[in-house]
Amino acid sequence: MALLEVKNLDVSYGDVQVLWDINLKIEKGSIVALVGSNGAGKTTFLKTLSGLLNYQKGDIIYNGESLKGLPSDEIVKKGIIHVPEGRRLFPDMTVEENLLMGAYHRKNDPEIAGDLDHVYTLFPRLKERRKQKAGSLSGGEQQMVAMARGLMGRPTVFLVDEMSLGLAPLIVDDLIEIVHNINKEGNTVLLVEQDVQLALENSHYAYVLDTGKVAMKGKSEELLKNPEIKKIYLGM
Ligand SMILES: Nc1ncnc2c1ncn2[C@@H]1O[C@H](COP(=O)(O)OP(=O)(O)OP(=O)(O)O)[C@@H](O)[C@H]1O
Ligand SMILES: [Mg+2]
Repeated sequence: MALLEVKNLDVSYGDVQVLWDINLKIEKGSIVALVGSNGAGKTTFLKTLSGLLNYQKGDIIYNGESLKGLPSDEIVKKGIIHVPEGRRLFPDMTVEENLLMGAYHRKNDPEIAGDLDHVYTLFPRLKERRKQKAGSLSGGEQQMVAMARGLMGRPTVFLVDEMSLGLAPLIVDDLIEIVHNINKEGNTVLLVEQDVQLALENSHYAYVLDTGKVAMKGKSEELLKNPEIKKIYLGM
């Protein structure tokens, strides 16, 4: 059984339907990529998984249980944690305060302090900058804060929207290495990217979203060799 399974999902904004009959599976321990051009519906899909948007048709099954109708805070408590596009940090709060916001729903869990130490081992730059205001960091560092904050919520499924957008290649390399480390620690990751090459090179399985529909799916290494993908998304 997949850790998370989406079945026949339709999502609309008012009268405008954006996602059409989406079927997708995320196996425990994997890195799955969801790729597609600007406006394909990737963020809409993540917001639906996180309980921020309702859906008209279909179902989302987590660990064998439907998430239909659950509010977003209940979904977060299950460990389905969304690192949003554009990072959405609290710029006037310190790095550490931002990270602790990620554990907000865990209230007085005595393990929060240990998790903070652990997150700092994954992101040593954030440890150095922990007393700095988040708004004063570089774009790449802010992306690290957004991801580290997500990890403080103890994800079982880690949803990362447009991690690489607008960042220099060297920083993206660092972030990708962190994604692999997070995955090796047992976390399941959904990488949502406009950068199709990056996402396919760093995932096990992938779905290609085109104007709200799953146009292709398969093992990432095979999709990388697919002539249609090469032509449309890799500019070859
Ligand atoms: N709040 C909203 N109300 C109405 N339409 C919306 C809303 N948000 C997004 N859309 C529309 O839904 C479609 C999918 O948008 P979405 O943001 O999910 O795409 P995306 O794949 O994440 O794009 P990008 O790569 O630019 O992040 C687009 O046509 C967009 O204009
Ligand atoms: Mg988006």
